Amino acid sequence: MEYYNPVKISLDVDLPNVVSSLFKNTGQKLIFCSKRFSRTQSFSELRSGIGECEVFSDIETNPSVKSLELALGFAKDYSPESIIAIGGGSVIDTAKVARYACYGNTFDIRGLLGDPVKKDLSKKPLFAAVPTTHGSGSELTMWATVWDKTSGKKYSISDPENYPDFAIYDFSLFSSLPVQVTFASTLDAFSHSFEALWNKNSNPISDHFATEGIKLILNNIGKIGQSVGEGVRKELVLASMYAGLAFSNTKTAAAHSISYPLTLRYNIPHGIACSMPLFPLLKINNTAIKNKLSKIFSCSDVKDINGIEQKVKSAIKGMIPYSISEYGVTRDELPALVDGSFTKERMANNIVELSVNDVLSVFETIF
Ligand SMILES: [Fe+2]
Repeated sequence: MEYYNPVKISLDVDLPNVVSSLFKNTGQKLIFCSKRFSRTQSFSELRSGIGECEVFSDIETNPSVKSLELALGFAKDYSPESIIAIGGGSVIDTAKVARYACYGNTFDIRGLLGDPVKKDLSKKPLFAAVPTTHGSGSELTMWATVWDKTSGKKYSISDPENYPDFAIYDFSLFSSLPVQVTFASTLDAFSHSFEALWNKNSNPISDHFATEGIKLILNNIGKIGQSVGEGVRKELVLASMYAGLAFSNTKTAAAHSISYPLTLRYNIPHGIACSMPLFPLLKINNTAIKNKLSKIFSCSDVKDINGIEQKVKSAIKGMIPYSISEYGVTRDELPALVDGSFTKERMANNIVELSVNDVLSVFETIF
């Protein structure tokens, strides 16, 4: 077996200090962040620490082809030596695509989605990914998700050169996350962990990280409320990091595949869409991962798969709509959703081969 992840992790650090020591003496710098972050004190401190830099903040949630065209139009005018992305998965993915364009010499998004680019690694900027949500794990993976909202397709730009050089976790950046984002992020990390566990590409190292992620989430999800204690938040960030380390080597599987049309067609937040199918999939995959699950049951107060479902659902009750009908899906649309959920490179990773009827039954359960 092999496990590979080249990202250097800085955990529990002060972002302006770390970024300043890493990038102060590099040439042209680009920062990608949300508009909200660009108005914060942390951002001002960061800028004064690294000196001159260019900032792009026109970033869409679940970045579309159109929004990435804007980001590439911005990046095209520079020859950056370093790129710093501060934000959730959408911000980090946008910056990842811009960096890929820089060393692929292709600033046309359709070009990047097509045949492999001709890489000139001398133009590859140093890249620091600084998450401000604890779900996507994008700071630890080599791919970026592109949502084509016109054709209703989801793409992944994936390249071994696309791993960030640095993942920087500053706990203070997560403290003001709204409760809905906290749940959606946590559930995304929960899904990444299970998808790594029941994955055909799993190995003992990815299993270890996935198990740690699941245990931390099970022990903390019931403590999420309108405010989240510092200790709980730190454990949720750690859970997301472990989940990222796990699925960076396995990729995702059936739950994510099923979630894509739900997000593209009904705008269901990604973390919600990819976690709802976990519970019916747990029943399908249960036997194949029995030994792995027993390690989770031995270290948490959850003793069986029904307990996992109850734990999550009682934590989010009254906070988040958690059935697809509440997001506008009608029963007659389920066959079309089944059709749209078979993204080959993800569904095929599931440890149990899933038929059309299996997937239909998953949709019926989360309806
Ligand atoms: Fe995800």
